[in-house]
Amino acid sequence: MGVWDPRRGVPLLLEWFAREGRDLPWRRTYRPYEVLLSEILLQQTRMEAAVPYFLRFLERFPTLEALAGAPEEEVLALWTGLGYYRRARSLREAAARLIALGYREPPEDEGVLRSLPGLGSYTVGAVRSIAYNLPAPAVDGNVVRVLARWFDLPGTFQGKGRKELEALALSLIPPGRARDCNQALMELGALVCVPSSPRCPVCPLVSCCLARWRGTEALRPEKVSRGASVQALGVAGLVRHRGKLLLRRRPPRGLWAGFWEFPWRLLEEGEDPGAALGRELAPLLGEVEIPPPCCEVRHAFLRTRVRLLGFLLDLPEGWEPTPGQGTWWTLEEAAGLPASAGCRKLLERLRREDGESPRC
Ligand code: ADE
Repeated sequence: MGVWDPRRGVPLLLEWFAREGRDLPWRRTYRPYEVLLSEILLQQTRMEAAVPYFLRFLERFPTLEALAGAPEEEVLALWTGLGYYRRARSLREAAARLIALGYREPPEDEGVLRSLPGLGSYTVGAVRSIAYNLPAPAVDGNVVRVLARWFDLPGTFQGKGRKELEALALSLIPPGRARDCNQALMELGALVCVPSSPRCPVCPLVSCCLARWRGTEALRPEKVSRGASVQALGVAGLVRHRGKLLLRRRPPRGLWAGFWEFPWRLLEEGEDPGAALGRELAPLLGEVEIPPPCCEVRHAFLRTRVRLLGFLLDLPEGWEPTPGQGTWWTLEEAAGLPASAGCRKLLERLRREDGESPRC
């Protein structure tokens, strides 16, 4: 072990974590179900946002069995605000499969965990190491950054490089310290070794970080170049009748499967927004006059950045809906339904205006 062996930092990192590690609800029990739930939530949002979701989930679904038996709609409703609902569906499905296999907690068995929907190598390693203290790597984005800097490793760590980084992470774990070592790496990435302006002067690894020594910390890890995103314009009809809003449900497969949404669509090149919305609404409402747009929200999906124009249509009192053509919901009911970020933003606009003015 030379003077510059960065591995000298492992005990320093563990001491730092014992001193500075945050008091998080799942760290009080390390119950496997709680660890799994926290990991899935943390893949979706920041720590500060994840904690209240975690507590609400645990209150409503205190056990793996409770989650497995819950109606999907209820799990999705608790997930509201986090986006990427596939994770919520997979979590419930994973719970149901484990219960069907006779487990009452997510097990330590790597093969079983790997067979579950939504669990990749990171989550499997996190559950095995954090819940069961088994030596397994758990390399998420924070850990990639810490290791790439600590050992001054070039590369982006997608694909093959990722496996090598997992081998390095595993090799750092002292006997019996998997839980602390992996969480210390994550914690350091979240609190100190942050993406821009890392807080090197207060880092426990400052004396043995190769990137710090060589001045390359801002270059590690190397950035992944992403393809350019596409811009698009969309139109959505906010159709109101007798205090209720018209929503339609998406098909059970594909993008936003089973979600509720305002009738909407993307415009073709050169298409007139009002005319396009009229055509979209015709099967639901017949021929209607389209007013000027009343609001605009932005959202992104699948590399497409959409400017979505909302058009508020208040149908006359005497108008009669055709059965089977969309479903009518109050604003409160609609707010509890699974919906895409764009649709939620439109609902939020309506909610803010509700009661103040008839416009959105
Ligand atoms: N990020 C994901 N899991 C974490 C954990 N257990 N502690 C800190 N940060 C995390």
